[in-house]
Amino acid sequence: MTDDLRLVDVESKHLDDVYRVRSRSFGLLSAGDREEWLSDVQGFIDDGRIVGVVDGDELVAAARIWAFQQWWGGRKVPMGGVAGVVVAPEYRGRGVGSKLMRGVLARSVEHGYPLSALYPATTVIYRHLGYEFAGGRFRYTFPAAELRSLGGKEVSVRRAGPADAKRFLELVGQLHAAARISGPLVWPEDKVAEWLGEENSFCYLAEDGFVVYGWQSGKLRVEELVAGSEATARALWSVVGSGSSISADVEAYMSPDDPAHLLVNKEADKNTVIEHWMLRLLDAPAAISARGFAPGASLEVDLELDDSELAANTGRWHLSVSGGSGSLTPSTSTGEVLRLGSRGLSALYSGTPLATMRRAGLAWGGATAGDGAIDTAFAGATSYMLDYF
Ligand SMILES: CC(C)(COP(=O)(O)OP(=O)(O)OC[C@H]1O[C@@H](n2cnc3c(N)ncnc32)[C@H](O)[C@@H]1OP(=O)(O)O)[C@@H](O)C(=O)NCCC(=O)NCCS
Repeated sequence: MTDDLRLVDVESKHLDDVYRVRSRSFGLLSAGDREEWLSDVQGFIDDGRIVGVVDGDELVAAARIWAFQQWWGGRKVPMGGVAGVVVAPEYRGRGVGSKLMRGVLARSVEHGYPLSALYPATTVIYRHLGYEFAGGRFRYTFPAAELRSLGGKEVSVRRAGPADAKRFLELVGQLHAAARISGPLVWPEDKVAEWLGEENSFCYLAEDGFVVYGWQSGKLRVEELVAGSEATARALWSVVGSGSSISADVEAYMSPDDPAHLLVNKEADKNTVIEHWMLRLLDAPAAISARGFAPGASLEVDLELDDSELAANTGRWHLSVSGGSGSLTPSTSTGEVLRLGSRGLSALYSGTPLATMRRAGLAWGGATAGDGAIDTAFAGATSYMLDYF
């Protein structure tokens, strides 16, 4: 390792280096998967969404940034999804990963994302940079026979495919906005169409709902199911459950607050699989004004933010919430107020109660009597994602 470590935009000439570091980090890819990986990475290179660290001419670390939108309080907020964070083994534990992630933060700010999110393989590096747990990807397992008997036979359900991508997005949009959902990603229509067209995507559409499921290791697995009514939920779950003679269990990616938990007569298997993801606010005022808040909540409060990585967020702010919207504007007030670092701000944004944050050392100062009103404004259904990236 030399002193000549620099952040760079990854270019096509670095592809072999990226693959070498990647395979030493995550394992080898088959020839077919490698082709797909190369074409994916080229897309990130073309869009300036992959950064690296070079030592002289050799690339020794890389990370990419997906251009996502994410639902927060029933509104879509642009979010840079960080993935493929890799450092060559011989460079690890020397600050290279932190340098790389600082480059990722800077590049994400340049792209104008108010939020950044990632699935951490290890939390320490990301916490140092202001990320905190914000939600999970929950996978439940239900007995297929219980789903099969849910009924809903009066609902008409038809087979769907790529041509229905627009309708899928409309339905998700309406239902997520109405339920003030937080967490799921919004994919562009062409990607949704691609997904619906996959051989292992079995898609069914009703008037006010849809399901996409397929086989995974000999079991049926629901990738996504939304339903605007009880009857449609029953109908779509029972379509999946109709496979009970072959697949005794059905796995499903879904929210912990999904109505299915209240419909199915047996609780989900105790062994729910949860992959937690982390969030970071890159531009606090933009992130606050883009998300939805609890419609009945009304809040006028000053708070102090301390963001050691992104100085523009640091300072005293006035947080105002009313009519389901919020704003964060600079404040000149003095006196003792609630204080948060960037991890605390991420946790607050994702609905973590202030009492939890105070006890974890993520929030301090101010009058605890005011915590309830702040909690109420940020409260909502548990944040979740359906996709891994
Ligand atoms: C995880 C990884 C990117 C970290 O890179 P790195 O260059 O070693 O990170 P840094 O030297 O900047 O370390 C930053 C902090 O994270 C900690 N850290 C790094 N790797 C860690 C690990 N595996 N477990 C626990 N802490 C870790 C360091 O100790 C340091 O904290 P400290 O300052 O309190 O001691 C690198 O180890 C790697 O490529 N691993 C394999 C692939 C992987 O897991 N990628 C992450 C996908 S989300």
